[in-house]
Amino acid sequence: MKIKMLIDEIEELVTPKGSAPLSGKRQKEIEKIHNAAILIDENGTIVDAGEREKVLRKYRITPSTYLISAKGKTAIPGLVDPHTHLVYKGCRHWELEERLRGREYIEILKMGGGILNTVEKTREADEEELYDLASKRLDIMLSYGTTSLEIKSGYGLSKEAERKILRVINRLKKERGQVISSTFLGAHAVPMEYRDKPHKYVDLIVNEMLLEFKDLAEFVDVFLEEGAFGYEDAEKILRRAKELGYGIKIHADEITDSKGACLAAELKAQSADHLLHASDRCLARMKEAGTIAVLLPSTAYFLKKPFANARKMIDMGIPVAIATDHNPGTSPLYSQMLNMSFAVFLMDMLPEEALVAATLNAACAIGRGDIIGTIEKGKRADIVLLDAHSFMHIFYETGHNITDTVILNGKVIRKDG
Ligand code: NIG
Ligand code: FE
Repeated sequence: MKIKMLIDEIEELVTPKGSAPLSGKRQKEIEKIHNAAILIDENGTIVDAGEREKVLRKYRITPSTYLISAKGKTAIPGLVDPHTHLVYKGCRHWELEERLRGREYIEILKMGGGILNTVEKTREADEEELYDLASKRLDIMLSYGTTSLEIKSGYGLSKEAERKILRVINRLKKERGQVISSTFLGAHAVPMEYRDKPHKYVDLIVNEMLLEFKDLAEFVDVFLEEGAFGYEDAEKILRRAKELGYGIKIHADEITDSKGACLAAELKAQSADHLLHASDRCLARMKEAGTIAVLLPSTAYFLKKPFANARKMIDMGIPVAIATDHNPGTSPLYSQMLNMSFAVFLMDMLPEEALVAATLNAACAIGRGDIIGTIEKGKRADIVLLDAHSFMHIFYETGHNITDTVILNGKVIRKDG
């Protein structure tokens, strides 16, 4: 095997270990190694990572090995963002203005704004335009250290428009370096033309879209919420999706307690997301089912809502991940790094727990814990070098992008692109 790259003299290498989600007391289990080195082969796979002396003794470094000096820098796994709505057109800053003056998010949605406003603009755009818009967003995320993410459809809400968005996600998957998982969120809102017959739209999803999108999406998600989709409809869609072999995700209990966490547990969903209003009873079921809680601190921040109770979930033994929820309405945030700060300062998580939440647990939430989320032998070389001597600077220098170098599948990408 040929060593292609050596990242040498790393001041602090910080990583969780393994490929399964960490929960309870183990959510803060990370390894910290001083004066470390990482070796990467020509396929972009990590050959070895650990104490410098030990690593260098085992392998032969030749003059053709590409050397990165990481003196004074910290290495963390590439960040994973397990819940985004990245493919859309248009901006909704006016809505933020309305909300800051006191109008409720659900009120705006019922008035035909919110999601439906973005749907109108996204329907007009062609694949090329949506691809370019999403690519730019991916570049920004990369500059903050996000090397993998989930992307949902959900701003099409017709068969044609949802297919278009899923095709864009799949093109991004093929042509961009990031690991991307794709989720079909046809049940994001009831489209205008079905306003008076929402059940017909649910039928369209169940009887046609789910069958037709089997090759385009890995997961199916439903926005289970008052004003979006009710429990019965969500269950109908997700049971059919499960039968067809999709993984399951749910936008659960974001604005009201809609028993989304219970439904997620019952269907053994990969993740239940948001969970601001989830009841203890449903959370206990999630723990039994092994469903990952994906919390979205930036969404609560932008909506000025009370944060999900991360502390309680971790103490109960539920594996917690965090995501930006990037979307034009409730969370236009790109930076999973800033989101980690939100998790620590506003949700009472420990720095170590936040790192696990944005790496290994996030990777598991998108079904990729075996290939990404940690810096370990055999995993994809997705690594972020921070311009800092400790990973604590993610929190200490909140708001400043301390990303120095991003290594994506063994290739070096600087933060300026
Ligand atoms: O996750 N909650 C539903 N979907 C998004 C909001 C999408 C929008 O407002 O455009 C969310 O918060
Ligand atoms: Fe969302």
